Amino acid sequence: MTDVSDLASAVEQALREAGACADLPELDECRVRWLGKKGSLTEQLKSLGSLPPAERAAAGARINAAKVRVQEALEARRAELERLEDERQLAAGCIDVTLPGRGEGRGSLHPVTRARLRIEAIFRSAGFDVASGPEIEDDFHNFEALNIPANHPARAMHDTFYFPDGRLLRTHTSPVQIRSLLARGAPLAVIAPGRVYRNDADMTHSPMFHQIEGLVVGEGISFANLKAILHGFVEAFFERDLAMRLRPSYFPFTEPSAEVDMSCVFCNAKGCRVCKHTTWLEVAGCGMVHPHVLAAAGVDPERFTGYAFGAGIDRLAMLRYGVNDMRLFFENDLRFL
Ligand code: DAH
Repeated sequence: MTDVSDLASAVEQALREAGACADLPELDECRVRWLGKKGSLTEQLKSLGSLPPAERAAAGARINAAKVRVQEALEARRAELERLEDERQLAAGCIDVTLPGRGEGRGSLHPVTRARLRIEAIFRSAGFDVASGPEIEDDFHNFEALNIPANHPARAMHDTFYFPDGRLLRTHTSPVQIRSLLARGAPLAVIAPGRVYRNDADMTHSPMFHQIEGLVVGEGISFANLKAILHGFVEAFFERDLAMRLRPSYFPFTEPSAEVDMSCVFCNAKGCRVCKHTTWLEVAGCGMVHPHVLAAAGVDPERFTGYAFGAGIDRLAMLRYGVNDMRLFFENDLRFL
């Protein structure tokens, strides 16, 4: 076959066979048959040795040119078969190009963070600054300066985590009241959101949770101012008209003190499980800053008065987004988040 006509007809046959291949496995067999280690054209190259030396170079060049032509034909057929397969799959409808892609999930803010940012924006627009304090506190800021001396019964209600050196994980954001007043003096209007810790865990309690503290100190600050701010806040946060009431209560750091209730946002004050059929939801504690607290923070209680309030951010987020189990916020299940 090394002569010109034999080689030409071999190439023609190879091109015909390649063009007739119906699928990729068949095409591969064809390639092996002609170009594989024992393929027809490969065998031709091997037989070059038996030719007279003067003819070898020309014959080798012819055979290599033939190989290239066959290779090109095989490649062309492969491209053609792949295109036909794509068309077949498209026509069969097994590729739905309208399906959304996989792994497209985008991050989003945690519901507690969203609630906190909303709260901050609302109070900022009312002229409050946002303050913060350390989560590892000392006895003075967490208790003593807040009019909760050692052996005060209120300490027992705080389930405090203590460090061996006597410091503690703050049990509320109220110590930021003291820190802000000591750092900036009066007059002052701040809120302080942050993490707080108590040795307590069940459906409605997590050992770490979030509070928002509010403090306004100035000349002539009254309980009426407190009530107006709180009412404005709950209506802005829940974006609707809501009734609000203040119930007399007790906190060591405020006098007088009150619990803040708003009408139930779940049943529109008709009575439901969430409000325990009372039509009211408790959302915060508040009161007029106790003169002892002002004095401990270096503010003259004869000249200044102030109000303070504290609320659970997680609870506000639960009410706002309709979440019934606080633990969902801290289990980090991405489906929930
Ligand atoms: N610190 C209180 C607590 O953790 C909440 C609180 C109540 C804060 C009344 C206040 C307040 O500022 O006036 O339960």
